[in-house]
Amino acid sequence: MREVILSCIQPTGEMHLGNYFGAVKNWVDLQSEYDCIYGIVDYHAITMPYDIKKMRTNTWDLVMDLVAVGIKPDNLFIQSLIPEHTELCWIFNCFCSYGQLTRMTQFKDKSQDVESASSDTFISAGLLDYPVLQAADILIYKADCVPVGKDQEQHLELSRDIAQRFNYSVGKEYFILPKTLFTKTPKIRSTADPERKMSKSAGEKHFIGMFSDESRIRKQIRSAVTDTGSDHSEDLSPGVKNLFEILDAIPGSEEISGQLFQAQKEGTLRYSDLKENVSEHLMEMLIPFQEKRKELSANKRNLKDQIKQSSTEIRKRAQQTMFEVKDLLGLMNIKY
Ligand code: AMP
Ligand code: TRP
Repeated sequence: MREVILSCIQPTGEMHLGNYFGAVKNWVDLQSEYDCIYGIVDYHAITMPYDIKKMRTNTWDLVMDLVAVGIKPDNLFIQSLIPEHTELCWIFNCFCSYGQLTRMTQFKDKSQDVESASSDTFISAGLLDYPVLQAADILIYKADCVPVGKDQEQHLELSRDIAQRFNYSVGKEYFILPKTLFTKTPKIRSTADPERKMSKSAGEKHFIGMFSDESRIRKQIRSAVTDTGSDHSEDLSPGVKNLFEILDAIPGSEEISGQLFQAQKEGTLRYSDLKENVSEHLMEMLIPFQEKRKELSANKRNLKDQIKQSSTEIRKRAQQTMFEVKDLLGLMNIKY
């Protein structure tokens, strides 16, 4: 049997270079060898204040983004179409301590974001419980590996803890402990502020959208911060390092990246040359994705039907796990 690969992404806006190079590129490549399941996790997206009117559009937009870069529609599901995820989340709540959840760095960061964003300081219990739902997403398919960016490491550790506690309680190695799979660029930084990660939640200038206008992308690269004025002159500044990491991650750009790196070591590198090369290679990679995205957008109906169908198929696997889990825990079961 092929190993199971599972990963998910939230429908909180346009897909960016951090998502792609940090995780999604890996998702695409793994499809040829593994049993891959990828989710759009809308239940996770409602843990933070959000715009109800935009939610469905964002979800379908993300479906198109993912398919445009090479994800097969058969491998995709939408979380709110598979209620077993939330059912298993409830069960896992009872295998996870409150203290463990309050220690999660993402919870601390996001609750701080809520507090500083507006006068409304409502922090939902869903935000605290977020990693438990994530554990359910992963374990319900008995995933062997989870390809994600570095920011998800702590959540993966929690998933393994929950699996272990569950296994211990039922006296059986029922859940597989999922491994984390990083790409060679597990953390892409914001070009506008290389001290922080590239992210949608930080605001417009802190991410480069995969489907943005060419002129906007070129401008964002041109104005990338390259020198933070740090005193470690022999080290690359975070901004320059980030540009090299982006260039290195683009297929087919290894040679030029090597040459520019050599120039950097010899002290002859002009940052404008580095930026120009990043823009050129990036656009070469992005244009075919952008064209594919336009085609998909012209035929949305068809793709929507396909994703509803694939979610229904994937749901059968989740139902099987729930049946077994309830059995192991002495809960009631009916085959529907
Ligand atoms: P999100 O957009 O937060 O739902 O993240 C989707 C996936 O992209 C997750 O696997 C993240 O770890 C990954 N990711 C998000 N931002 C970055 C980043 N700046 N660098 C690398 N990976 C990232
Ligand atoms: N928490 C992840 C993120 O913000 C998204 C996510 C939800 C996820 N469920 C998952 C990632 C399961 C991997 C596996 O990026």
